[in-house]
Amino acid sequence: MKQLVINAFGGPEQLQLVEAEHPPLASHQVRLKMRYAGVNPIDAKTRAGLGWGAEAIKDRLPWSPGFEVMGEVLEVGSEVCRFLPGDRAFGLVAGGAYGEELVVNCDDLMPLPDEVADDMAGGLALAGTTAWQGLTTHGGLQPGERVLISAAAGGVGHLAVQLARDVGATVVALASATNHDFVKGLGADEVVDYHDKAAVQDIAPVDLLLDLVGGTSGEMLLSQVKPNGRVVTVPTITAPQVIAAAEQKGLRATGMLKENQHEHLAMLADAVAEGRLKVEVSRVFDLADGAEAHRQIETGHTRGKVLLRG
Ligand SMILES: NC(=O)c1ccc[n+]([C@@H]2O[C@H](COP(=O)([O-])OP(=O)(O)OC[C@H]3O[C@@H](n4cnc5c(N)ncnc54)[C@H](OP(=O)(O)O)[C@@H]3O)[C@@H](O)[C@H]2O)c1
Repeated sequence: MKQLVINAFGGPEQLQLVEAEHPPLASHQVRLKMRYAGVNPIDAKTRAGLGWGAEAIKDRLPWSPGFEVMGEVLEVGSEVCRFLPGDRAFGLVAGGAYGEELVVNCDDLMPLPDEVADDMAGGLALAGTTAWQGLTTHGGLQPGERVLISAAAGGVGHLAVQLARDVGATVVALASATNHDFVKGLGADEVVDYHDKAAVQDIAPVDLLLDLVGGTSGEMLLSQVKPNGRVVTVPTITAPQVIAAAEQKGLRATGMLKENQHEHLAMLADAVAEGRLKVEVSRVFDLADGAEAHRQIETGHTRGKVLLRG
């Protein structure tokens, strides 16, 4: 079977399509034929040798990226009863989604309702879990509160806008002017171009900032948070910097790492099935074009999700 791997950290050209062995199946695992794998900034950062992801795999190269997947069950281990061959499933995996086939712990996968299209499910698990946990588990968002979401047109942001609206919050979204109609269409109440510093400073104070950009952008947006307001800064590499600046202003701030929670995956799939949540799939690349997919995600201006097709 074909798999995209890196043998060394570096640029997108490090991604090589190779012929790999079919991975052995343990009794608690499912063999999945990948139909779609989400491409996320963490994939590109790890490929480049940056952050905790690269630290974790540096002694285990070659490595195949890919932390979210949708596919069809081909085979189940002897202890697995939840799935049957032919079932559609999606979920978060510990790397390796960039391949035609992968084995996944049964507990890491969720069955897919018929109403959810394959491609939407391929981009749902990682970005959706991050958006939901950032807003609620870490951010404590309540109905009637004002939430400011940066990078609102991106993979996590476009789902966060819809989920925050669904909670009953007033959503203030930051995006480039070309994305304003898109973000309004997702349900944002106010949309501001983050390039326009005066317009950003005019945003009425919010209860919660969901910072999806981090660094100096995250720090600048702290002025728009109410006294005693909350901040969740999602990019891990700059989280200490944003948290320290927030605490100096007396704000409650936290970083986060998304967790694999069954109930959250089930809620996200139901929300898509019921039409309350839509995954915007802006580009789909073949596995052989993985390097192009990484170049796209590294522009920092992807609308919605980029996927690889199995
Ligand atoms: N901690 C975790 O568990 C976790 C999980 C998932 C993601 N993350 C991190 O969260 C971040 C967002 O992920 P993502 O998948 O949503 O990324 P993404 O899809 O690549 O985000 C693209 C968006 O970023 C916007 N953007 C770029 N620069 C901006 C700026 N200075 N101010 C405001 N918006 C800006 C772009 O907006 P325009 O095109 O409108 O300009 C674009 O819509 C990444 O750093 C990622 O690594 C962390």
